[in-house]
Amino acid sequence: MNDSVLIKKGSEIELKVESLAFGGMGLAKIDDFVVFVKNGIPGQRVNAFIYKKKKGFAEARVTKIIDESPYVAESKCGHYWICSKLQSLSYDQQLKEKEKQVEDAFQRLGGFSDFKLDNIRGAKQIYNYRNKMEFTFSPHRWILESEPEGVDSSFALGLHIPGRYDKILDVDECHIQPEIGNKILSIAKDVCLNNRELKPYDPKTNVGFLRYLMLRFGVKTDQLMVNIVTAYDDINKLSPLIDTLLKDVPEITSMVNNVNTRKADVAYGEFENLIYGNQYIEEKIGELKFEISANSFFQTNSYQGEVLYEEIKKAANLKGDEIVYDLYCGTGSIALYLARHVKEVYGFEVIRSSLENAEKNSVINKIDNAHFLKANLDTFFKSRQLPRKVPKPDIVIVDPPRAGMHPDMSGYLHKLKADKIIYVSCNPTTQARDVQILSDNGYNIKNAVMVDMFPHTPHIEMVMLLSK
Ligand SMILES: C[S@@+](CC[C@H](N)C(=O)[O-])C[C@H]1O[C@@H](n2cnc3c(N)ncnc32)[C@H](O)[C@@H]1O
Repeated sequence: MNDSVLIKKGSEIELKVESLAFGGMGLAKIDDFVVFVKNGIPGQRVNAFIYKKKKGFAEARVTKIIDESPYVAESKCGHYWICSKLQSLSYDQQLKEKEKQVEDAFQRLGGFSDFKLDNIRGAKQIYNYRNKMEFTFSPHRWILESEPEGVDSSFALGLHIPGRYDKILDVDECHIQPEIGNKILSIAKDVCLNNRELKPYDPKTNVGFLRYLMLRFGVKTDQLMVNIVTAYDDINKLSPLIDTLLKDVPEITSMVNNVNTRKADVAYGEFENLIYGNQYIEEKIGELKFEISANSFFQTNSYQGEVLYEEIKKAANLKGDEIVYDLYCGTGSIALYLARHVKEVYGFEVIRSSLENAEKNSVINKIDNAHFLKANLDTFFKSRQLPRKVPKPDIVIVDPPRAGMHPDMSGYLHKLKADKIIYVSCNPTTQARDVQILSDNGYNIKNAVMVDMFPHTPHIEMVMLLSK
């Protein structure tokens, strides 16, 4: 009998968790039938309750740990099983699990059966590294199993429960952000709980005021931005929060209020009120200085950002006379990092404010051979929008968002005839798909490096060199 027939929804079975699947669930197999194990970590033998059974896989929840994992490590986080189970694995094992996930994506989804990573650049600083945090205000606090029935759940300031858009886990501290972030979190909560006017916004009913508390840290410059995102414009109402934060946290160098009246669950405001200091903070990567405003994209780990950009530079192996394209350039940090080592670099990006930051950052760093173009890269090249004066590239760097490249872009890229393509990605599954297309068009994988930008979280960053 097929083993999957023995696995029934509602039954309890014994499983050995073998690895961590992309996204963070434990993965166990019964012969070839895959069971994703919620709360299971690699190396554990567990009893698990099957709550979902589909044709090709099942999902189960741990009911009892029979044998603990040899890779288990004590987590600093009081909610690690909700936020990221990776935190309960030793850092070495976290890297091994991510390595397996990347190799699995390229071997299985991309069809590169011999694929192996050439290098893994683990982080030296595995706590207090994140330079941006976005905490959500909510009138719907997630109630923990340990809490008594009927407990007040009408206020939370914290993080989204994975897979749930409607509930927020209230957090007192988060160890991946700098310590000062925890102090700000605690002050903000205290002020809001003691002021009836400062009500959290409810996206279901479109009622309430406070939406997000966003913090940006210049971890290399000691600058600190607080961005309070509200559902409407009312600075007077915000004043108890503003005054207390400015009085008790002298480290704040910038405070802004983004106003987002739309229902969309995003921290981007329709407009921004400057409350204190500058409308941006400065941060450094290598020798370069960047001005970052509240809504600009910037790598969230400044320490490993430098390692990432060095890996890109290494893959590019520059002589000094190259024309380089930086596609999906954001605020232009890759382009600017390479500019001094190439003839000319062209950044392409769809968000206008990011391009403005990129232009400004070239001026601040006295770089005059970096040019930035507004482009929707889904269709830009295929529909021949590239201005004639832009020379053909020797090297193309692509760093698309998680969804990867649009098929019209990945299918067109080889027509640019670059000697090298360097594919930077925060999602190995979409990267594997896109690289398969590049490989069908004559580009082969020459080198693949994983840079861990996100210790204790399931996120992965890759730098891959391809050439003909
Ligand atoms: C992962 S970020 C790149 C960050 C940048 N390379 C850096 O290191 O700071 C992806 C960027 O792609 C941009 N983007 C997303 N879709 C795009 C599109 N269709 N055309 C152009 N840019 C796009 C986003 O605005 C974002 O800045």
